[in-house]
Amino acid sequence: MEHHDVIIIGAGAAGLMCAATAGYRGRDVLVIDNAKQAGRKILISGGGRCNFTNQKVEPANFICRNPHFVKSALARYRSQDFIELVERHGIEYHERDHGQLFCNDSAKEIVTMLLTECEWAGARIQLRTDIISVSKNDSGLFVLHTSKGEYSCDSLVVATGGLSMPKLGATPLGYQLAEQFGLKVLPTCAGLVPFTWHSEQKQKFEPLSGIAVPSTITAQDGTQFSEALLFTHRGLSGPAVLQISNYWRPGETISINLLPHMDAAQGLSEALELHPKQSLRNTLSQWLPKRLIEVLFDEALLNMALNQLVHAQRDKVVADLHRWELLMNGTEGYRTAEVTLGGVDTDELSSKDMQSKKVAGLFFVGEVMDVSGWLGGFNFQWAWSSGVAAGLAV
Ligand code: FDA
Repeated sequence: MEHHDVIIIGAGAAGLMCAATAGYRGRDVLVIDNAKQAGRKILISGGGRCNFTNQKVEPANFICRNPHFVKSALARYRSQDFIELVERHGIEYHERDHGQLFCNDSAKEIVTMLLTECEWAGARIQLRTDIISVSKNDSGLFVLHTSKGEYSCDSLVVATGGLSMPKLGATPLGYQLAEQFGLKVLPTCAGLVPFTWHSEQKQKFEPLSGIAVPSTITAQDGTQFSEALLFTHRGLSGPAVLQISNYWRPGETISINLLPHMDAAQGLSEALELHPKQSLRNTLSQWLPKRLIEVLFDEALLNMALNQLVHAQRDKVVADLHRWELLMNGTEGYRTAEVTLGGVDTDELSSKDMQSKKVAGLFFVGEVMDVSGWLGGFNFQWAWSSGVAAGLAV
């Protein structure tokens, strides 16, 4: 049996970061992954340019049953620390809206950087290896039976990620290991994911596919995001929708403000004064795409001149534009989700080093735990910060 100080299951963002950190401390580290390639999610992230962190990372950007849990790791390894690492490797990057940082060239550079760090730190990565079983023996060592042989280690780090994008090899192994060792796993569901239409909505709204508009979307718990909304063949997507999906639960409505930058009541009053005979259609078409207007309001109403509309009709138009209430069918699920909500309960882990409170030497890092970030580089920042926290302790 081959022994290592530390074995990390998962050569993704959190696992690689943890491996390099532990390796630099002189620990003998082996990373095991069943995939052909390390860091596959990093490679496809951010449209191939990896939104690797955010200039402004706050605990409020994360969803976790215990909102205080993320504070220690995020303070210990900040987005600035990762930016410095990226700069040391000569990777050029740029900032987009809301402080999001992307590689100028390719997400490959982030994977190469992490693999180089692992190499410099002496951490070995073994791919194409299936985990058959994991146990803890009487001497307190973890024993792993794999498709490539048996291994033992003093510290075991589970960095297997979430369930999103099964075609990239996502598996529930991390949750199974947590349960096997007696740790509670909170129910999981797809996060940062597009919504789907009910069948009757689909008929009505499918022709709008491709239209993008600025919006503010509010979930039933009052959480709001102001970003673009995109109509798709299947439903709604775009950054505002992905963000709000983290706060939506089946059966709940969402409220969409289609004119977040103006007051529609005031706009209609001004238009009525200036052009009383102008049709509602022509008035609204100055503010929103005509195709959208024609689906939202009925033909007869749109053909009316502004001075023909009674107060109640005007109020209804304003309400529909600023507070469009929608009951969506559901989400596209793990198939297209960027993250998994829920996971290993953080009450089971130390917020300082991500170690199980019940099982000494067992660590969980990254998305496998009940921590999910907003869209905008926050999920990778959690992978880096939690990976470093464990890497300093294993
Ligand atoms: P990650 O999924 O990266 O790694 C898990 C590793 O474990 C994988 O290598 C996997 O092969 C391995 N593994 C799983 N099961 C195993 C098993 N049974 N045996 C052995 N190995 C196993 N975030 C962000 O901040 N900015 C962005 O731009 C994006 N963009 C983005 C795009 C898309 C399409 C997706 C799906 C996701 C994103 N994300 C993102 C989210 C981000 O990719 C994600 O939060 C992190 O990769 C999580 O890092 P982990 O290391 O926890 O898991």
